[in-house]
Amino acid sequence: MSFPSQVSIVEVGPRDGLQNEKQIVSADDKVTLVNMLSKTGLKRIEAGSFVSPKWVPQMADSGAVFEKISRTPSIQYSALTPNMKGLEAALEAGVDEVAVFGAASESFSQKNINCSIAESLHRFEPVIELAKTRNIPVRGYVSCVMGCPYEGEISPSAVANVSKTLLDMGCYEISLGDTIGTGTPGATKLLLDEVLKHIPVSVTAAHFHDTFGQALVNLYTALEYGVATIDSAVSGLGGCPYAKGASGNVATEDVVYMLNGMGISSGVDMQQLLATSQFVEKLLNRPPVSKVASALLGK
Ligand code: HMG
Ligand code: MG
Repeated sequence: MSFPSQVSIVEVGPRDGLQNEKQIVSADDKVTLVNMLSKTGLKRIEAGSFVSPKWVPQMADSGAVFEKISRTPSIQYSALTPNMKGLEAALEAGVDEVAVFGAASESFSQKNINCSIAESLHRFEPVIELAKTRNIPVRGYVSCVMGCPYEGEISPSAVANVSKTLLDMGCYEISLGDTIGTGTPGATKLLLDEVLKHIPVSVTAAHFHDTFGQALVNLYTALEYGVATIDSAVSGLGGCPYAKGASGNVATEDVVYMLNGMGISSGVDMQQLLATSQFVEKLLNRPPVSKVASALLGK
């Protein structure tokens, strides 16, 4: 086990963050957020979600957001696509990458995407097929990897099964979602000991929410296993509308600060990130959740 020398950060604030905001954020403000993030050195930005607007009204304008953002050619701008309707809209919007999202918990699958795990995998098949014919890489999310808001404990082998299946179906990367942030370093170890028997660490990403304040220490544990892709959200934005009480993703500022201190490069510029954090603060009229942003901005 050794730490990676470089980590790729997937910024999910514009999607995972804003999907959970009660106040309406306009498409123009979302565009400003994505454009500011594009100047930070981040190479992957999840900018929206092509899901039912009845289920997640906050993401209804993702098409408009993709149309208006100023794209940096070296950045992959991605979006969630739960089904063919979502993929068609995403292709129309010119996304660089899409993501299907499954779960290791049956109850969460039903609440989140209105079908069983098996049915969801069946629905993802044509999505992955079509995306591949268009040369669009597909990421696979697995939710509830360290606990479910409806079922409680989730076995690492259930996570490993879904992860392996998504990889075999053609996803190029599997993002392990601690949707409700209940994981601990112990649980992270148990999870990775099992999952990494079935999928390579090189395709594994850590997507940890910080509900219980454990995200950074869990990421440190994942880094020890060699996980080199981390999902995070500027200012600690985030949550999941189908996981009550789930707070934000780990803050990008906190991850970058920790990586800098460990001598692991991410290519992200802290000053530009802080400027983006300040934009989010003004936009939502609340201080950043990120401790690093609060400290560095003198809050
Ligand atoms: P359904 O009701 O079973 O689907 O929803 P349906 O096919 O029966 O369609 C129902 C209606 O939705 C129809 O419209 C469709 O046209 C429309 P109507 O005829 O009633 O007017 N529809 C769509 N509209 C726009 N885009 C689409 C689309 N699909 C259907 N793609 C569905 C199934 C999956 C669509 C629904 O359950 C849904 O949208 N769920 C989204 C849930 C969601 O976005 N959750 C948050 C993201 S996941 C997450 O945050 C976890 C993650 O961060 C990792 C982690 O933290 O663990 C990724
Ligand atoms: Mg999430």
